[in-house]
Amino acid sequence: MKLNPILTALSAATLGFLIGLSFPVQIAPQLPCYVLSWSGGGGDAASNVLGRLSWVPFVVSNNNNNSSGTAAAAAAAAEVMNQNKTTITASSDQVVTSSTASVAAAAPKLPPTGAERLPPNIVVSESDLHLRRLWGEPREDTPVRKYLLTLTVGYTEKANVNATVSKFSDDFDVMLFHYDGRTTEWDEEFPWSQSAIHVSARKQAKWWYAKRFLHPRVVAPYDYVFLWDEDLDVTFFDADEYVRLVTKHGLAISQPALDFARGKKSYEITARRSSGVEVHLNTTGGPGNCSDVHQRPCSGFVEVMAPVFSREAWACAWHMVQNDLVHGWGLDVNFWRCVDEPERQIGVVDAQYVAHRAVPSLGRQGNPETGGGGKVRARAWREYSHFRARMTNADRAAQREAAAAAAATSPPRSK
Ligand SMILES: *[C@@H]1O[C@H](CO)[C@@H](O)[C@H](O)[C@H]1NC(C)=O
Ligand SMILES: *[C@@H]1O[C@H](CO)[C@@H](O)[C@H](O)[C@H]1NC(C)=O
Ligand SMILES: *[C@@H]1O[C@H](CO)[C@@H](O)[C@H](O)[C@H]1NC(C)=O
Ligand SMILES: *[C@@H]1O[C@H](CO)[C@@H](O)[C@H](O)[C@H]1NC(C)=O
Ligand SMILES: *[C@@H]1O[C@H](CO)[C@@H](O)[C@H](O)[C@H]1NC(C)=O
Ligand SMILES: *[C@@H]1O[C@H](CO)[C@@H](O)[C@H](O)[C@H]1NC(C)=O
Repeated sequence: MKLNPILTALSAATLGFLIGLSFPVQIAPQLPCYVLSWSGGGGDAASNVLGRLSWVPFVVSNNNNNSSGTAAAAAAAAEVMNQNKTTITASSDQVVTSSTASVAAAAPKLPPTGAERLPPNIVVSESDLHLRRLWGEPREDTPVRKYLLTLTVGYTEKANVNATVSKFSDDFDVMLFHYDGRTTEWDEEFPWSQSAIHVSARKQAKWWYAKRFLHPRVVAPYDYVFLWDEDLDVTFFDADEYVRLVTKHGLAISQPALDFARGKKSYEITARRSSGVEVHLNTTGGPGNCSDVHQRPCSGFVEVMAPVFSREAWACAWHMVQNDLVHGWGLDVNFWRCVDEPERQIGVVDAQYVAHRAVPSLGRQGNPETGGGGKVRARAWREYSHFRARMTNADRAAQREAAAAAAATSPPRSK
């Protein structure tokens, strides 16, 4: 009789859960690891189990001697489920031990969804966006770069895009999303283009591409992912220095400050401080403007125009990008959900700054016969209101579920 391996594993896990065993789990450095988190309130029929178990991938960095990063990832995984059944702690020798939930402990033995039929040692669940040769020894190919720059571009902005890419070193893999269908011209004019990834899909917006081509498992090797627009003036920007600063200040989500004198103004929080600071995290603005520093956009906020995500933050943010909402409006006020401490881990880099030239390139992508740029903008606003409504509903549903789970697990009152 051929048993479905995942069901076998699940029944083992469920059994373990019921008995309350705990297993130490070794996490190999730099290997993806799957934590199976229990989200059930307990006492459900077995048929419910599948729906209540979720895969939560996270990557353990091998040069991270600070266990809190690992613990935070694991804790976040547990927290997503909003349950007290899974307690994961990481010690400095990178052994993750599940103290109360054997479901979590047993999980790393299970392959990612879809790979159940394969022997685990052949499963490669991560990829990258690095070009390889078709010949030679694979391990002698040029190594995958440490960071990824993505730009959503049209050919008319080629001069600025070239200037932008020139500010990024060889430590970056480069990926261009073309919204105007013109790709071959780039290779003819710019040598760097020949080693860039080009994705061409007409008349789409940045977040449409990001959802489809920047899956967290595909960008997993990159420490930071830049999701930039094409119309930034980068005269006073250097990418390596930028990365050094966000690393130094522990910014998981960041953007370069904007020089309001040379470009479009936007939120006060993104304005460049000329006082010689390297980064800033908040603004108090004037009266009636950021009167509460703890509210977005006064802290814990960067715009969708030029965000830079750490690997972990992007793995979260990607999930928030909706499939049908292409303009991404409203994501910025929710980026805070993807870090532990938004007021410390989301910030604006003053020492490396840009100016927003605000070329209305996206507006031109509207069909003139149906209203052109005005209609594009109207859709962006409509998407913004959809997104807000979805987020509100999702928050409410999660709260209800948490409350129900808490009620189910609280000890029965004595008579
Ligand atoms: C990691 O930190 C521990 C103490 O927390 C220390 O004993 C150990 O030497 C460190 N390892 C490395 C590689 O820095
Ligand atoms: C680990 O990193 C966290 C945040 O980055 C920090 O608060 C903590 O002090 C660090 N712990 C050690 C032992 O370095
Ligand atoms: C979680 O579990 C621990 C130990 O099992 C217990 O001490 C703690 O009170 C629980 N917390 C909640 C919020 O139920
Ligand atoms: C691209 O930018 C670099 C750096 O600014 C510059 O040297 C080069 O001439 C530009 N290439 C073209 C074709 O304009
Ligand atoms: C704060 O005030 C400045 C000028 O007083 C304005 O330009 C800016 O848009 C305001 N920011 C917000 C978030 O309202
Ligand atoms: C604002 O950010 C600075 C660091 O840039 C920090 O020292 C300060 O505590 C923050 N203010 C508030 C109210 O959080």
